[in-house]
Amino acid sequence: MENKKYYITTPIYYPSDKLHIGHSYTTVACDALARFKRKQGYQVMFLTGTDEHGQKIQDKAAAKGVTPQEYVDEIVATVKDLWKTMNVSYDRFIRTTDDYHMESCQKLFTQLYEQGDIYKGQYVGHYCKPCESFWTDSQLDENGKCPECHRDVYEAHEEAYFFRTGKYADRLLKLYEENPQFIQPEARKNEMIAFIKQGLQDTCVSRTTVPWGIPVPFDPKHTMYVWMDALTNYISALGYKNEKYNDYETFWPASVHMVGKEILRFHTILWPAMLMAMGLPLPERVFGHGWLLLNGGKMSKSVGNVVDPVVLCDRYGVDAIRYFLLREVPFGNDGSFTNEALINRINVDLANDLGNLLSRTVAMCEKYFGGTVTANGQAGEFDDQLVAVLKEIPGNVTKAMDDLLIPQALQEIFRGIQRANKYIDETAPWTLAKDESQKARLEMVLYNLCETLRISAILLSAYLPDTAPKMAAQLGLDPDHLDFADLEYGKVTSYTVSKGEALFPRIDVKKELAELAAQDEARKAAAAAEAAAKEAAQAPAQETQALEHLPEIAFDDFAKVEMRVALIKECENIPESKKLLKLTVFDGERDRTILSGIAKWYKPQDLVGKKVSIVANLAPRPMMKGKYVSEGMIIAADTADGGCTIAFYPQDALPGAAIH
Ligand code: MSP
Repeated sequence: MENKKYYITTPIYYPSDKLHIGHSYTTVACDALARFKRKQGYQVMFLTGTDEHGQKIQDKAAAKGVTPQEYVDEIVATVKDLWKTMNVSYDRFIRTTDDYHMESCQKLFTQLYEQGDIYKGQYVGHYCKPCESFWTDSQLDENGKCPECHRDVYEAHEEAYFFRTGKYADRLLKLYEENPQFIQPEARKNEMIAFIKQGLQDTCVSRTTVPWGIPVPFDPKHTMYVWMDALTNYISALGYKNEKYNDYETFWPASVHMVGKEILRFHTILWPAMLMAMGLPLPERVFGHGWLLLNGGKMSKSVGNVVDPVVLCDRYGVDAIRYFLLREVPFGNDGSFTNEALINRINVDLANDLGNLLSRTVAMCEKYFGGTVTANGQAGEFDDQLVAVLKEIPGNVTKAMDDLLIPQALQEIFRGIQRANKYIDETAPWTLAKDESQKARLEMVLYNLCETLRISAILLSAYLPDTAPKMAAQLGLDPDHLDFADLEYGKVTSYTVSKGEALFPRIDVKKELAELAAQDEARKAAAAAEAAAKEAAQAPAQETQALEHLPEIAFDDFAKVEMRVALIKECENIPESKKLLKLTVFDGERDRTILSGIAKWYKPQDLVGKKVSIVANLAPRPMMKGKYVSEGMIIAADTADGGCTIAFYPQDALPGAAIH
């Protein structure tokens, strides 16, 4: 086969404290594609890495009291560990803090500046810190917030460099039109076209207020915009404008950039415009996949252990999790993570359909033929139907993978597995076994089942790299040689099987869900306890002070004070005093007037409708030279700044209720 190249990239990840299962989604999908292409004989470059600059990282490091470099170094190690756990077979890992990457970015920035594609200007706009995005007035959402995450943006005015993205609007539209596969899925293309047609602004590509970034080489008080820095990784990782690697000529342009839908815009507008400006070839495809949702929303690390990929892999096995990710979400659309859906996939597809087919087949080969079956049995009814399916599958799987439709590819492989299970029901080998004259027929049935499992194992090796070799071992095949060249039906003519462990033990759904719910409760309780302890630790130390005490009183004396809940019905300032408010309160029995010295801290409109404590049996007191009579007192506490604060009752407190 001619030596074809395939260059596939994941986005480079923000080094967040904890990657969740949603993050693993892109990477596992790319891994399956990379493995598939390698099996097809392509020379593959599979790139992943981390996106380490920017305000967000700077803030997080500061909050932890470490330098940004220390902060990212620690997290990057955990990211690499996670990919190892999940069997992600990347060929190269790039960090945007690597010297060679920074060198490429600086050279690229300088070239764009020297040729006039980058110019100096004034930035006036809105910046969203969490998204690290600039927005113009017209791009903000209806509440004047970030159109992506709907959080607050802040005004930014500063000297900045700009990239002439706007200049490339027409060429971008032409690119989409002439290369229908450039943006996928198709539906997302229209969003990008609309975005360009509303008027493509130039992109602000430097900041003077974010020190944690790559310095602009000819004006180092500026650092490069993180997206320009990040996108450049796809070529710096190949050695473009640096000496570290020498693969640019071999692998560029990328065969596919796989990205989440929310960052498609950067990859299909800014990135190709940068490449156009540099006169470089454009990637062949950008695929914007949907999100794995949790409870209908995007995942965040605050949702805790439930979606921690390491916890999930420990509990169910790496391949079960990989299978769920690759199979459950229709590629390109959003999908949901639920424990039920995960357990269901494991039980139905993996334990039942696949696991049972293998264990039944191996058990029957051993029981009826001492473990060895050959292709010399007797053909019969139903064989053709099964074999026809087996012959179709490799082509269909390849087609689905060419279209980046990974769930369809898996569905197709499982179509063969399901067909074989049906074939067992149709041929009833246990009945054939009872009749000595049917021995040759029985052998053929078992041979066909082995062939189904062998072809399935070869195909599955791209998706389930732990499971496929285990299948091969039970079938007596070399687990290290699951080659696409052997996908043809009939390629192996004799099997000597040996029983192994169940591939995927069946999960007791009820028990498992109860256990997970209990774990979740325990996790929530632990998190609440931790938060409470943190809050207590952060509360300012309570200083003790000398209090002025009144003489002790007997309980009976205290019992003489009648305190009740009262509803404030009216409240007004009085012209004679700046200090006093005149309140009309309902004490459960009648309305009464109370004058209270709280005008400095409360406005009348803030009090009406509130419920407060009053001393109800205080002798009426004439005030303001007898113009008013106050019939009670509102209970309030002094504040540290010499003011006062009233404790209000919740709305279900009844006026007139006694306070003890
Ligand atoms: N650093 C940028 C990418 C720069 S590429 C030049 C970034 N990083 S990220 O860590 O926030 O996201 C990395 C990838 O994970 C994105 O493709 C994003 O869509 C994906 N996912 C994060 N949460 C996800 C889900 N819940 N579901 C599916 N993918 C998700 O963006």
